[in-house]
Amino acid sequence: MTISVEVNFSKKEDLLENLQRKNLENIDRLREPYEDESENNSLWYNWPENEGKKLASELDGIGSRLPYYYDLVVVIGIGGSYTGTKAIHDLFGASLEIRNQEPQKKPILFCGYHLSESYLQKQLKILDQYKPVICVVSKSGRTLEPNAIYAVLSTHLKKRFSHEEILERTFFISSKKESPFLKELSPNKPRYFSIPDGIVGRFSVLSAASLVPLALAGHNIKALMRGADDFFKQLEAKEEHTLKSLIYAPARFLAWKQGKSIELLAYEEPQLEGLGLWWQQLFAESEGKQEKAIFPMGSLFSRDLHSIGQYIQEGSKSIFETFLLTSGVRSEGNFESESRIRIPTDEFSRELLGKASGHYLDDLNEKIMKASRRAHSLREVPNCTLRIGVMNESNLGFLIAFFQTTCVLGAFLLEVNPYNQPGVEAYKKELLHLLS
Ligand code: PA5
Repeated sequence: MTISVEVNFSKKEDLLENLQRKNLENIDRLREPYEDESENNSLWYNWPENEGKKLASELDGIGSRLPYYYDLVVVIGIGGSYTGTKAIHDLFGASLEIRNQEPQKKPILFCGYHLSESYLQKQLKILDQYKPVICVVSKSGRTLEPNAIYAVLSTHLKKRFSHEEILERTFFISSKKESPFLKELSPNKPRYFSIPDGIVGRFSVLSAASLVPLALAGHNIKALMRGADDFFKQLEAKEEHTLKSLIYAPARFLAWKQGKSIELLAYEEPQLEGLGLWWQQLFAESEGKQEKAIFPMGSLFSRDLHSIGQYIQEGSKSIFETFLLTSGVRSEGNFESESRIRIPTDEFSRELLGKASGHYLDDLNEKIMKASRRAHSLREVPNCTLRIGVMNESNLGFLIAFFQTTCVLGAFLLEVNPYNQPGVEAYKKELLHLLS
């Protein structure tokens, strides 16, 4: 597996080369605690080899070993306790809209990341149509939003299930060993899975935080882990193309140094929106400190070319663009023959679409990405292109490990601690104050 990274900064090659030298010197710091911090939060590094592959093997097929039937996975979590699962599920999971999909895959209903009554009303109606399992994911076990939603949901489910049945269907994934949840679940403790202390929320995607719900939803978690493992192995072996790809970190840093305040991650697949959210959280929460760092924002092309495309082309020169290019999305182990969609070539289509008629949609999409890259480059918007090949589970695992690594390397260049989030804690304190 590889990822190719191409950077386009007109006339800045020397600066970038110097930064890349410094960046590569920082690789050895990836496995260490950040500067003077006593706790080591770098357990995410080389996680697949150290723990992840074993965990993925243990959890694989967990759903088929349950003593009851279920047809929906409810994930209750916020921040790093849900974005990773959503990123992967959006790409390869069963959707709530299409019934009778691959029988081993179950849809996921994401709750606990919002407190909207009207939206939750709709979600409860969906829940009523299924026999769910519930994953409460919270590293601290103390976050208000997911805990509030579990309280509401479990009460709602009492109309259909006994208290014991609800507990039987509840999985608690946390690093909090004294939570009220554990007292409640205690006779059935096997349904408690731990998030290790040395992995902070936004780096927890390859831990039980996401693996448990993903395994229950029938995902190929072993392939995901294999891809991430491959990245770390290549990095440990200091393979040249892997080291080269790390230029993504200094490129973002240089863009910020030169006054670019926004990084737009442009992708052409709507199924990558979840990954965009995960990526946004990873970089914003890890780097956005001490008035530093570029603001990360995911963007779906073509949709956004018809809105913020205007700003990119003629608005304030504050944008750095990263194009995430794939050769389509295809779950590993899906051996169905590929069915492609092509614009018809009949007279009406030719009249309506001219030279675009007869093209496959993906090919047209690729041309749209190329055209926007060219148009924005003419305006000297610096950019970076990441090519990952077919987006399947193992390539996604590889990409996740690549983003985690370049994020921490970016924080090193910015000289900020990637693992804390004092800003997030500040709002929690204010909320407690308002509630008291
Ligand atoms: O990255 C982080 O640490 C945060 O985004 C947390 O994931 C988020 O605040 C949720 O916290 P918890 O998992 O403790 O409920």
